[in-house]
Amino acid sequence: MEKLRICFVGTGSMGSAILHGLLASGYEKKLISATTKSEASSFKLRELGISALATDTSPDANQLLVADAQLIVLGVKPYQINQVLNQISEEVNREAVVISMAAGIELATISQSLPNHKNLVRTMPNTPALVGKGVTGLVGAASASKDAIEAASNLFRTVGEVVEVSESQINALSAISGSGPAWIMYIVEQWEKVAINQGFTAEQAATLVRSTLVGSAELLASSDEDPAVLRKNVTSPGGTTEKLIATLEEAELSKLFESSLEAAVKRAREIAASND
Ligand SMILES: NC(=O)c1ccc[n+]([C@@H]2O[C@H](COP(=O)([O-])OP(=O)(O)OC[C@H]3O[C@@H](n4cnc5c(N)ncnc54)[C@H](OP(=O)(O)O)[C@@H]3O)[C@@H](O)[C@H]2O)c1
Repeated sequence: MEKLRICFVGTGSMGSAILHGLLASGYEKKLISATTKSEASSFKLRELGISALATDTSPDANQLLVADAQLIVLGVKPYQINQVLNQISEEVNREAVVISMAAGIELATISQSLPNHKNLVRTMPNTPALVGKGVTGLVGAASASKDAIEAASNLFRTVGEVVEVSESQINALSAISGSGPAWIMYIVEQWEKVAINQGFTAEQAATLVRSTLVGSAELLASSDEDPAVLRKNVTSPGGTTEKLIATLEEAELSKLFESSLEAAVKRAREIAASND
């Protein structure tokens, strides 16, 4: 990836995940800066060897650090995006690529605060980025240059896969992969509970479930087969697995997946409307 100066504005769970991936890829530390609210968070970032400032102790931290950045990654909460954009709008270089990771915040909203900046990119990463296995949905503003979109894609490719989508798809993508780790962890929680209810210790339940999860994920990743085929491979007619899947189907699990996705998309629209 071309060596650009990158500034993370708001570096919590998601910003740190991308930052750690970037560092693991060997990106030069002196090209990275970051801001947080608290001094404690900034201190941890400085310990990684990058420059970091906190707005609690340096109220103009965001303005100071974005000024010479070529890539700016906005990692504050969605409700803070407008306030932070208004704060930095004068300092952001006209050619800089401004990347938002904020759920539900539309490119048009970002553009209202940065009317003279064309290289705006909206993304939806996920936390497996922390281990280099993330997936990021990405869409550039119509005004963004090809190079800008490429630079943003390259950044997120250091921590996993990138899928370019249209902006109309990003709320659904946000529910599917952005919130994806939460779906999986919730399933793991339920799965371990039923194992414990069967008399396994918590440690045994964790080994049984987590090893099965990781093993199945690796099997899926290394196979050319559809998940349905891999499932059928372990489902003997008239056997126990068949009964297990039939029970999930009778409970209409697929409808539950559909309605939880719709609820998340609805919430993303509400966030967008409240930030117009
Ligand atoms: N978490 C996810 O799985 C996920 C997935 C996709 C997208 N996102 C998006 O990523 C963004 C961040 O989410 P998150 O979960 O990473 O939140 P988070 O952990 O709360 O991180 C927010 C960061 O912003 C900092 N901050 C707060 N006010 C600030 C200010 N005025 N100036 C500079 N920094 C400020 C916080 O500082 P302190 O550390 O001092 O509190 C913290 O480092 C959100 O817009 C979210 O929609 C998150």
